[in-house]
Amino acid sequence: MSYSLEDLALDIKNTLETHGIEKGSSTICYYVKKALMDQNFIPTHLPDRKEGELEREVLYEDKDYGFCICGHVYPKMAEGHPHDHGPSWAIYGQATGETEMTDWEIVKKENDITTVKPNKTYLMKPGDVHFYNIGAVHSPMRKDPVRLLRIEGENLDNVKRSKIKAL
Ligand SMILES: [Fe+2]
Repeated sequence: MSYSLEDLALDIKNTLETHGIEKGSSTICYYVKKALMDQNFIPTHLPDRKEGELEREVLYEDKDYGFCICGHVYPKMAEGHPHDHGPSWAIYGQATGETEMTDWEIVKKENDITTVKPNKTYLMKPGDVHFYNIGAVHSPMRKDPVRLLRIEGENLDNVKRSKIKAL
């Protein structure tokens, strides 16, 4: 049986309700992977973007917990700078293509600026899922077109991110 957007939303919601994000993150990662592996999920919800459309689309926003399921489609190379998601956690699930992700270590926080240095770099391949806790600094590098699912703890349209300085 196929795994639908509604199934994913309900599984995330139930996990948050039962365990919270700290204890439930690996379970949510499992459900995101399940969606990535479903043969209909990605073709249905992460179609090619038309001219002028945004790369990120909010597919589902939960009215009780505030988390969002987003589809990201990058048609060409995209390099992200080191960033966090302000007060929100996030889960990245690679659907197609590859992302070279770097995790950054926080060296100091001073005068509203977070200074970071690179910690480790790893390749995310289709089916790979990673949890980024609140405050985790990371930077994605995508050399070719990619599609990914991103679960945001709260809608990132509305959050203020830290100012980051990379060493
Ligand atoms: Fe991010």
